[in-house]
Amino acid sequence: MSENVTLPKQQGSTDGPAGEPLLTVEGLTKHFPIYGGFPFKRQVGAVKAVDGVDLTVYAGESLGLVGESGCGKSTTGRLITRLMEPTGGKITYAGQDITRANRRQLAPVRSEIQMIFQDPYSSLNPRQTVGTIIKSPMEVNGINPPGGREQRVRELLETVGLNPEHYNRFPHEFSGGQRQRIGVARALALEPKLIVADEPVSALDVSIQAQVVNLLQKVQEELGIAFLFIAHDLAVVRHFSQRVAVMYLGKVMEVADRDSLYNRPRHPYTHALLSAVPEADVDTDGKERIRLAGDVPSPVNPPSGCRFRTRCWKAQDKCATEEPPLVQLSGNREGHLTACHFPEEPSTEARAADVVMDPALTALEEQHGSGD
Ligand SMILES: Nc1ncnc2c1ncn2[C@@H]1O[C@H](COP(=O)(O)OP(=O)(O)O)[C@@H](O)[C@H]1O
Ligand code: SF4
Ligand SMILES: [Mg+2]
Repeated sequence: MSENVTLPKQQGSTDGPAGEPLLTVEGLTKHFPIYGGFPFKRQVGAVKAVDGVDLTVYAGESLGLVGESGCGKSTTGRLITRLMEPTGGKITYAGQDITRANRRQLAPVRSEIQMIFQDPYSSLNPRQTVGTIIKSPMEVNGINPPGGREQRVRELLETVGLNPEHYNRFPHEFSGGQRQRIGVARALALEPKLIVADEPVSALDVSIQAQVVNLLQKVQEELGIAFLFIAHDLAVVRHFSQRVAVMYLGKVMEVADRDSLYNRPRHPYTHALLSAVPEADVDTDGKERIRLAGDVPSPVNPPSGCRFRTRCWKAQDKCATEEPPLVQLSGNREGHLTACHFPEEPSTEARAADVVMDPALTALEEQHGSGD
């Protein structure tokens, strides 16, 4: 069975958001209640996993959503796919407010928004054949493609680079990369317009990651499917997303087209993340790296004002009292939004600040340092 996919053509690097907004998220929140107070169960607090997220995904584009572990990326993805009920805010899909849509109202939208999960092992039922797994979304939604469901499944297997003859095999007979391809085929079964891919390659061997990213890129370009591509790593997203949003502690800190974000980042957190991307070294030869100090604060009690202030080397009094709005700073390209009172100059030049690096980022760096 071949793991190879035809290499997609390079995407234009200056592409801005084309087309219409497909999905718009405004002030989205998800607060998980914390209960305590024995013997009576009452709410004593909340995990503010998503705390006022604004995002737009345009038809056919790939928007990367990046941030450290625990900052609310997966929860955002689950809210958008409506696997979870939001606490507040608004989700608009193709002009329709789906925030509070019920099961029946959601049915057509559900098939158009699909999700690919991080772990290809646990997201496939081990007792079902590949054919059954990929076919089931069509059965659930009563869809009968011309030529029949089995024929469609065989086509989908081919699309994702798997052998259609392996229709009757079980997930355990496939490698990790192949299992993620099965997940992609399942997501494609209903001809979605938007796929939320939640760290789709993080659980795979580094050597396999590029192949799966290439497959997703092929899907995005050839089938015109929009992606919300979630990653903790700016390196992966760089190859895949035309625009990138950077998330920290339940909020979007900066969003921009790829070139602006990588070459003219304004938010200190984006600078820090870029500094942790080994590939950025190529462009920033000789410059020092920023080291992110300490851990991400608890989302139960996020810092007042700017959430990044406890780790920010530019923080001043105003940062503790006033939350910076996500706005377009003067001199920035259309659509490049930043939430910071004292933004960096537009360049990836790093500061002298060199403190202990976040363990998650260290692990990432090691992983990638040994990779390619
Ligand atoms: N079902 C849940 N109940 C309570 N807390 C949760 C739940 N799911 C996620 N969280 C918390 O919400 C925060 C954001 O989690 P998550 O969205 O998974 O972040 P990410 O995907 O960026 O790592 C974390 O602090 C996590 O522990
Ligand atoms: S608002 Fe203040 S604390 Fe927040 S990122 Fe900007 S300078 Fe740093
Ligand atoms: Mg996650």
